[in-house]
Amino acid sequence: MGLFLTVKRWFLSKDKVDISVDFAGVRLANPVVTASGTCGYADELADFMDISTLGGFITKSITLEPRKGNPTPRIVETDSGMLNAIGLANIGVERFIREKVPIIKGLGVPVFVNVAGESIEDCVAVAERLAAEEAISGLELNISCPNVKEGGIAFGTAPEQVEKITKAVKKAAGAKPLIVKLTPAVTDIAVTARAAVEAGADALSLVNTFTAMVIDIESQRPFLANRTGGLSGPAIKPIAVYLVNRVYNEVAKPAGVPILGGGGIRTAADAIEFIIAGATAVAIGTATFIEPDCAVRIIEGIKGYCARKNISNIKDLIGKLKD
Ligand SMILES: Cc1cc2nc3c(=O)[nH]c(=O)nc-3n(C[C@H](O)[C@H](O)[C@H](O)COP(=O)(O)O)c2cc1C
Repeated sequence: MGLFLTVKRWFLSKDKVDISVDFAGVRLANPVVTASGTCGYADELADFMDISTLGGFITKSITLEPRKGNPTPRIVETDSGMLNAIGLANIGVERFIREKVPIIKGLGVPVFVNVAGESIEDCVAVAERLAAEEAISGLELNISCPNVKEGGIAFGTAPEQVEKITKAVKKAAGAKPLIVKLTPAVTDIAVTARAAVEAGADALSLVNTFTAMVIDIESQRPFLANRTGGLSGPAIKPIAVYLVNRVYNEVAKPAGVPILGGGGIRTAADAIEFIIAGATAVAIGTATFIEPDCAVRIIEGIKGYCARKNISNIKDLIGKLKD
């Protein structure tokens, strides 16, 4: 037996490892997707990498009307991370469908459109428009943006609100799978995760950014015009891994609902931590600002890890955290 295992390990090459996953009924060739708001609407990364090598692409949040977002400065670097207070700046759903959906058709990768709004009705209207577009594989509902006054995080903190908006948008999404993106700014994320799943979410996405502040000590004012922003990047990774594991154990595993995990992923090792914690797929955000094609390196690294650990199918790694 020992000899057999040794021989098998010897022969398991990277190319023999299957890292494809089923994410809420959508097949991803690998578990690596872009995080909303960090990689544009469609092909903005195309100068840096072949987008079709990604497992999936998630767009910037799209709202019913175009939004200018918050005044500047709206980004600031921190130790091991950054704060952003973009405020959901985007071109609005009609322009998105007119200008970006034709590009999305040619990307050769499943595309999920992130939906946001100032009211449930707004989110429903956006979801209804997008549901009619064949090129779109699914929707991600952002109920966790910390940087807008109306809607945003307010939808994601009270479980009754999470349930109400998820139910309404799920209906509007029709046959498209609905991912609900949760905020970490709650006492117990399992409560809001459960509310989303019970209301019909096909997948959960976590985490969005953590509300935070940087102070300019010379002016003694907040650095960002919005005062606060959302903290992302490696600084949040261990908290995000913990929250993914909690949601996996308490809600996602028993309900059979996949998790898109993320927060500070920069390397394949980071991504693998999230997968072991319970994520079926992983989102890469802030790291792309430093290395726009880091997803390629992360995908190869995941394959290499599986081969080294003699894991022929990545599904055998999801949620396999040992005691
Ligand atoms: C500049 C910036 C813009 C973002 N915009 C959005 C957005 O429009 N919608 C959304 O759901 N999340 C948005 N996010 C959150 C990311 O998708 C991700 O959840 C978060 O940054 C944590 O992952 P990371 O540490 O890998 O960046 C944004 C993050 C950043 C840094």
